[in-house]
Amino acid sequence: MPGFHLVETTVANEAALRHLHQLSQQISIELHGEDQTGTLESLRATSADASSRLNGIVLAVPGMAPASVECGRFGLPPAPDDLGEVWGSMQFTLPLLDNRHLVDNVFVQVAPEYRRGGIATAMVSHLHQVAAAHQRSTILMWSDHRPDATAESWVSAPQGTGAVPLDAASRFAAHLGFRLAQVERQSRLALPVDPELLAALTAHARDAAASDYHLVSWTGPTPPEYLDAVAAANHAISADAPSGEIDCEDERWDATRVQEADERMAAVGTAFHTLAVSTSGQPAGLTTIYIEDGEPQHGYQFNTVVISGHRGHRLGLWMKTTNLAAVIAAFPDLPHLDTWNADENEHMLAINTAMGYRPWALGGGWQLVR
Ligand SMILES: CC(C)(COP(=O)(O)OP(=O)(O)OC[C@H]1O[C@@H](n2cnc3c(N)ncnc32)[C@H](O)[C@@H]1OP(=O)(O)O)[C@@H](O)C(=O)NCCC(=O)NCCS
Repeated sequence: MPGFHLVETTVANEAALRHLHQLSQQISIELHGEDQTGTLESLRATSADASSRLNGIVLAVPGMAPASVECGRFGLPPAPDDLGEVWGSMQFTLPLLDNRHLVDNVFVQVAPEYRRGGIATAMVSHLHQVAAAHQRSTILMWSDHRPDATAESWVSAPQGTGAVPLDAASRFAAHLGFRLAQVERQSRLALPVDPELLAALTAHARDAAASDYHLVSWTGPTPPEYLDAVAAANHAISADAPSGEIDCEDERWDATRVQEADERMAAVGTAFHTLAVSTSGQPAGLTTIYIEDGEPQHGYQFNTVVISGHRGHRLGLWMKTTNLAAVIAAFPDLPHLDTWNADENEHMLAINTAMGYRPWALGGGWQLVR
């Protein structure tokens, strides 16, 4: 295999970002038979640094490393502005407000024609240097799998539910000493949902909850009066959503972080939120659906949480069906929604199944404690 070297880049390098996006599209189509990558603008927005995290992008490119150049913040030469070819990529985040022991959200991909040549190994080896330089003890890497993969062997999740096929991604992760810490299920809801079913589910949930709670829905950035409530709900998501054996701590959320996340989403799409509020004014739950601009094929059901102390009132179902109705009214031609849940999150999966979501793909969370 011809020689390659690693470079690092940021969203400021347009050519590098376009190559990363194209590689992601190619690999998404290879795995799913469709492009689930999202838009270039969305990649640009999610890869931009925020006050809550640094974003890393490492690329494997052909040829020898330049002899003497000043390295970037992750210890690699910067990608040139006229980058011509990318053989592999690795994205990661370094949380800054909480979870400062993690190198998080690691996604590694190598173009099919350059696999088994050590590119992915080289990128993850470099990640150890990043982890050491930033005092991070734990690396969390994610893999995607088809649920109908005809693998002979499967790797079981430590929490006892779910498994991922022992395919190239799993073998690669295991080869580098990572252990499967959680399995996620990607589920898909074909739209439009039967309006009678949606109305019946909403009425059923509302009957159980409406005497003690009301719902507030909005589109786009959070109104100022709900910033603290959304911060509380986002904290609850990080604290309460099942995380298998992933070594993560509660996230710190405040109004500023909510505004920052809202700005990022509003720059490249439309977020639909529904918040549950108790009669005494306490935030009780939140759900969000996101539609990217210029991406009419995909909508995403993001996090849903019912804050502890408010569970058992069918708030999850009520919020989700109410929010979904708003999305269908605004985007009547949207073909489906995708969502991701911990495979052991039986309550959320039961709600999704009642609404018509069906399993679509699997995700593996691979952890390495250094
Ligand atoms: C998984 C992936 C990143 C591996 O990239 P790569 O550059 O081919 O990996 P490497 O050459 O560094 O492989 C290192 C070791 O992993 C294991 N491995 C990698 N691919 C494998 C395969 N298809 N079958 C069996 N073992 C494999 C082997 O032990 C290999 O060592 P060897 O070649 O000496 O036997 C690549 O197949 C890919 O991009 N897949 C799609 C994206 C993806 O699944 N990413 C998630 C990674 S967790």
